[in-house]
Amino acid sequence: MKTTLIFATNNQHKVEEIEKVLNGYFTIITLKEAGINIDIPEPYNTLHENARAKARTIFSITHQNCFSEDTGLEVEALNGEPGVKSARYAGSDRDFQANISLLLHKLQHIEKRVAQFRTVITLIYNNEEYYFEGICRGKIISEQRGTNGFGYDPVFVPDGSNKTFAEMALEEKNIFSHRKKATEKLIAFLSKQSTWKE
Ligand code: IMP
Repeated sequence: MKTTLIFATNNQHKVEEIEKVLNGYFTIITLKEAGINIDIPEPYNTLHENARAKARTIFSITHQNCFSEDTGLEVEALNGEPGVKSARYAGSDRDFQANISLLLHKLQHIEKRVAQFRTVITLIYNNEEYYFEGICRGKIISEQRGTNGFGYDPVFVPDGSNKTFAEMALEEKNIFSHRKKATEKLIAFLSKQSTWKE
């Protein structure tokens, strides 16, 4: 029987992106499917701590193997901002459009627009914690392009492409994606576990 892991997120975009990478390797149980209806706090100053807090919160409720991820957009000219505050950059309500507007405003006179997305996954497996990181380098353009995806996708162009993430189908975003790279490390780890059932 295939192993299942609870994915500690309420973000359906993240679920879809990761499911595409898994390609059925294991089954994700979403929080909704697990009957958990909470907004998991992300109170810390690093992606690692927030990812850990999310996974630990869900593990303390379910006592089942689970994983979480925390992602930040890190812009070099802004000393790594918005970083761990990416979701609430322009305020507390996770407003993607307001976050993009603030980012473009801060970068309006800046030529060097190098940036990266960084994802940290925390896995709790047989009560042990493991971490996996994925980075996608690119740049922030000065106008929004495309309607796919979420968050900062309309202004981020990964190295090796001329399109923003929001102009790409999911399969194409996953050629470059930070989340995909972290998920592949998770899969590689799980495939080596003797308790793992495929
Ligand atoms: P969190 O990991 O849920 O805290 O997400 C942080 C924020 O980063 C999200 O609300 C989005 O604004 C942004 N973000 C995370 N992953 C992506 C992505 O793949 N593309 C664009 N924006 C993202």
